[in-house]
Parts: sequence; structure tokens; C-alpha cells
Amino acid sequence: METKVITIDHKNIDETVLQEAGRIIKEGGLVAFPTETVYGLGGDALNKESSRKIYEAKGRPSDNPLIVHISNMEDLNSIVEEVPEDVYRLAEAFWPGPLTIIMKKSTLVPKETTGGLDTVAVRMPSHPVALKFIEYAGGYVAAPSANVSGRPSPTRAKYVIEDMSGRIDMILDGDGIDIGLESTIVDMTGEIPMILRPGYITLDMLQKVLGEVSTDKTILDINCKDAPKAPGMRYRHYAPKGQLTIVEGDVAKTIDKINELTMQAHIKGKKVGIIGTEETRKQYVGDSVKSVGKRSDEESIARTLYAILREFDDEGVTVIYSESFSECSMGQAIMNRLLKAAGHQIIYV
Ligand code: TXA
Ligand code: MG
Repeated sequence: METKVITIDHKNIDETVLQEAGRIIKEGGLVAFPTETVYGLGGDALNKESSRKIYEAKGRPSDNPLIVHISNMEDLNSIVEEVPEDVYRLAEAFWPGPLTIIMKKSTLVPKETTGGLDTVAVRMPSHPVALKFIEYAGGYVAAPSANVSGRPSPTRAKYVIEDMSGRIDMILDGDGIDIGLESTIVDMTGEIPMILRPGYITLDMLQKVLGEVSTDKTILDINCKDAPKAPGMRYRHYAPKGQLTIVEGDVAKTIDKINELTMQAHIKGKKVGIIGTEETRKQYVGDSVKSVGKRSDEESIARTLYAILREFDDEGVTVIYSESFSECSMGQAIMNRLLKAAGHQIIYV
């Protein structure tokens, strides 16, 4: 299949392009599009054949449910059994934006889209291209991150092209992917709202709106053997090709340890990549030392992390060492993704 790649200026949107993209979705095709978190791989959420195609294009297990993206509140009613009062409050506070809300699904949503579950994950993204595209696509766009299953989510169009060329109908290259990590997921079907995936919208922010909120214990305790409640969090995700190890502890000791490990790896003939920060990168000695952002600015780290993991792949790095980061506010989402990328390999200093 030939994949059409179209650049779109999110500050000056060419609506004819989005009309065409919308038509592709309505006809059962697939279109990758930018959102404020990561690129999405979109298909018609109400068409089970489209969902089947999404799983196939990603190489994703079909028991891993998709997020349904909407563009306005009126459209929410028909895909859920009912909209709980608290969901209106969440939407008021965080939609459009990087929050995905799990509710009981209505019969309109096929089980193929929800991985066989009776619940549906819904998000209204804030990216202007995404919102307009969803409208033209008929209102309901199922979209996982636009990467091949197991690879880091794409935050740049070139990585979508790398993973999806030849597999889907169109890629919208749109810029403005400002957050860089996938949305926060909150489950509103239980007695107490529960975070299933940490992201830009933090526990604190949710508690201010909802009162009591819990967090899936598999996120807080990396040794917990229970199955995570979001099926997608079970898989080894976000994996770079090189073997990633996180070094955690005092920053000065971390730098010493990473330099020591790098020397040992060099002796074995490995190509080493290092994930440092603006504050520390000059103190490392690896083949490929990269700054992921400022230690003092978590948002800068979130924005760059996935792109760096992909750059290491491109450079043929075989071993990667990373600093660890504070788990304050967005830091929890950063460490959650980094630990997954590392297959939980961590050295304490
Ligand atoms: O930021 C995002 O959320 C991006 C952009 C494209 O919107 N999308 C994204 O989708 O990250 P995906 O498919 O890569 O991750 C969706 C996660 C998976 O872990 C999946 O298991 C979980 O959401 N999920 C979806 N529906 C669910 C449901 N009904 N119950 C529990 N978890 C669900
Ligand atoms: Mg994903």
C-alpha cells in the first residue's frame, strides 16, 4: 500500500487535507495524525474492520484495547452507557487535553475496538489538527500510538513514517507534539477513580477535581506481580533496540557509575549511549552522550525521551545507560516509561 505523507501547519490548517483524511477514515482506512502527547494511528472506532486493521498495522495483540478520540462533549453520550457526574467535572477541567477516561461502553462501540472489554477509553485531544481531523472523520477515531508494537511511541513524523510507511493510507505530519508521553488514563468505572497510566495530568491535579483518587499498585511498586489494570501496561513497551539500564542514586555517584560501566562496555566492544541532562552531560565519556532535557524541568525531559531512544536505535547503540529522575509530578510518568524501556533493569548507587 502506498502511504501518502502530507505536511500540515497546525497554526494555519489546510482543511481540504483534513477533509480527505476524514474521508479515508469513513471509508475504513487508516490515518496517522499528531496529538499533543504522541502521534496516533487512527481508524473509525465504530467500524470493527478498521480496528482489526489497526491491530494488524501495529502488530499489536488484539486484546489490548484502543482509545476512542472525540472532538466534542455531545459526541460522548452515544458511546458510553452513561456519563457519570464526575466525568463532566474531569472534562471541564482537562478536556480537550492529555487525559483518557474509562467508562462503561454502549453497544455502539464494537468489542474489536475495546479488546473485548465492556468498558471504553475516551480522550478529547487538544491538538488543533487532531480535533478537526476527528470531526471530518465522523466523530470517533480509535487511535493507539502510531508505532509498531513494542517500539517507543513516535513524537516526530519521521518515526511514524519509519514504522508505518506501506502499512496505512496517510500520515499527517503536523508538529506541535508538546508533551511527548502518552495521556494519563483514569478509570471511572470503580468506586474510587484509579490512575492506570501516569502522564501529564498528575494524581494531585485529579484529586483537586475528584477528591479521593487511587493509583494502580503495579505503577507504584515495580516488584508487584499483579497484572496491571490497563492491558497495554502488561507488555514490555517503549523498548529501544539497545539494552537499557537505569542508574539511580545521588547524581555525582550516578555519573561515576555510568562512566565506569561505559568503560567496561567499551572493553567488550559495545557501542554505548548515555542519557544525561543539560546539567550533567559534559561529565560523561560515552560514544553517544545525549541530553534528555533539564533535571530542573520535567516537561523538557518528557518531551525528548522517546526521540532519544529512537536516535540510539538509528545509531546502532547496543548498550544504554540512563540517569534516573525524581518522581515528582510528571516525573512519575517519565520513570514509568523509562523503567518499562529498561525492562526494569536498575542499578542503585
Ligand atoms: O496519549 C495517548 O493516549 C495516545 C494518543 C494517540 O492519544 N494514545 C495511546 O494509545 O497511548 P495506546 O493504544 O498506545 O495506549 C492505550 C492504553 C493501553 O495501555 C490500553 O491497554 C489502555 O490504554 N486501555 C484502552 N482501553 C482500555 C480499557 N477499556 N480499560 C483499561 N485500559 C484500557
Ligand atoms: Mg502505545
